[in-house]
Amino acid sequence: MKILNFGSMNLDYVYRVDTFIQPGETKSSQSLMVNCGGKGLNQSIAAAKAGNEVYHCGIVGNGGEMLEKQLKENGVNTSLLDHSSQQCGHAIIQVDDKGQNCILLYGGTNQLLTEEYIDRSLDAFGHEGLVLLQNETNLVGHIIAEANKRGLKTALNAAPMDEGVASYPLDLLDWLIVNEVEGKQIAGCTSDDDIIPVLREKYPSCSVLLTLGSRGARCFTEGREYRIGCFDVDVVDTTAAGDTFSGYFLYGVLNGKSIPQALLLATTASAIAIGKSGASDSVPYLAQVEEAIEKQIFGTLDVEVLE
Ligand code: RIB
Repeated sequence: MKILNFGSMNLDYVYRVDTFIQPGETKSSQSLMVNCGGKGLNQSIAAAKAGNEVYHCGIVGNGGEMLEKQLKENGVNTSLLDHSSQQCGHAIIQVDDKGQNCILLYGGTNQLLTEEYIDRSLDAFGHEGLVLLQNETNLVGHIIAEANKRGLKTALNAAPMDEGVASYPLDLLDWLIVNEVEGKQIAGCTSDDDIIPVLREKYPSCSVLLTLGSRGARCFTEGREYRIGCFDVDVVDTTAAGDTFSGYFLYGVLNGKSIPQALLLATTASAIAIGKSGASDSVPYLAQVEEAIEKQIFGTLDVEVLE
């Protein structure tokens, strides 16, 4: 099944630090790398490297030529991209000695989508496939509603979370992808264990993928809940690990894999991504992921199924 991703594209300025900078502190970084990122771009590349036919929609701004090139070189169809002379989106990312990150976003052209561009792109895409969204672009609610009207499936990764998410027609989604912070805010609960039960109740026709970092992931779809743990791997850089997970999971569910298989593919792909620096550059190809599973490079994981 084809994927149309209305996705953010960012130049990631990645500063290596021993520990994150504190308020009032001036600090020298150990290195700077400029990478291609953006949750949208990373997810398009993950879904394409997994084997999906992916169309990326968004506005390439000034300075963003390498973002378009990166999408093309990784097999993403860029024919629906638009261009603007305004500044492209970027992210200032600190990665510490533990491989954890913190990210400051500048939206740039990611925030300049228009209803006219969205509707035109949806019309060009056709009536079969899945529309993928993250919360780094404007007009997310409009895209969900218009995609739904056209009979397209929809998946939203509600990251980064903000107050706007509550106004989106989440009840129309086929898949809601959240981490524990986003999940608790949308569900309005305080415990990780309540996220899926509350979201099931609130959005009965929407399947939920809940990622829990080093505690694994849970998924609720078609009346069943699935749980998978996480491999114990050396962390180099967690940037885009979640995007890799989403891209591979969607590949699995859109290509006839069972939910346990999709969860294992996604968990393995993100374990590989965590072992490498960078955002979209850290996303593995399907063959690497399948080899890692077959040779049990990271060990084995069982998927628990709860009726
Ligand atoms: O999920 C990681 C991504 O978040 C980075 O590539 C950065 O650009 C931000 O969008």
